[in-house]
Amino acid sequence: MVKIAVTGKGGVGKTTITAGLARAFSRRSYKVVALDIDPSPNLLSSLGCGENINLEHVKPLMENVDLIRERTGAPPEGYGLVFKLNPKVDDILDRFGIECRDGVKLLVVGTIKQGGGGCFCPANAFARRLVDYLSGGVDVLLMDMEAGVEHLGRGTTRTVEILLTVVEPSLKSVETAKHIKRLASDLGIKKVLAVLNKIKSAEEEKLISESLQKIGIPTIYKIPYDEAMMKADLEGVSVFDLKEGDLMFKRMEELSKILEKEAEFSKV
Ligand SMILES: Nc1ncnc2c1ncn2[C@@H]1O[C@H](COP(=O)(O)OP(=O)(O)O)[C@@H](O)[C@H]1O
Ligand SMILES: [Mg+2]
Repeated sequence: MVKIAVTGKGGVGKTTITAGLARAFSRRSYKVVALDIDPSPNLLSSLGCGENINLEHVKPLMENVDLIRERTGAPPEGYGLVFKLNPKVDDILDRFGIECRDGVKLLVVGTIKQGGGGCFCPANAFARRLVDYLSGGVDVLLMDMEAGVEHLGRGTTRTVEILLTVVEPSLKSVETAKHIKRLASDLGIKKVLAVLNKIKSAEEEKLISESLQKIGIPTIYKIPYDEAMMKADLEGVSVFDLKEGDLMFKRMEELSKILEKEAEFSKV
């Protein structure tokens, strides 16, 4: 199995790429679970999930005070309180997992809004345990992370094999990638790989991949700017359910094959 966390600056395409990869891996008969770890989760709509969704499942687990209290013995942000470090999580996927298209299962995890990097509170203990537990039962665990780098200190990405960093043609997004790379090596995450997204010209592509090379992040894939995304946004649907999104899906398939080689993982 492989754990892949998708990171990068806000708006670069993390959620789109997480969703596309989840569906591509799943169609290629891997067992896939996608985790939405963004504080304002929207992976659900990019993935294209069923219409009959139980609202309780859409509420981020991290904000489910009763659940966190029941499992850890303390409320989510109970800093300084005594709480269980290995809460029960084996029923969470069945109870809260949302069935999405192509057989992808989604868990809306959310994140702790306050607390700062490195905080260790009941909600984080729960999230870490959940990630560890899930990795035992799936082929591909994809995590759509919060924008920026702060979350790297919270530990949910501690055991990922690949930190996939999405970069768009802007200096700011390269800067974020640079921070990510530095923190990742502090955490012992060896593979930090870049996907360039929203590329509009060969010149842009060259400039950005060269900057990334200097930082020491290999670019493994490039995605052009695609008008189909705008149509999907406008209609509030997953681009991967639009005919215009066929090409975008093919790209995700290609990327999934590249990641497969990078990770050398096997099916459960
Ligand atoms: N290749 C692309 N071409 C054009 N627009 C894109 C592309 N990838 C993503 N977008 C658009 O960029 C915006 C941000 O994408 P999203 O996946 O939500 O980013 P993030 O999760 O990093 O904030 C969305 O409006 C999305 O439709
Ligand atoms: Mg997002």
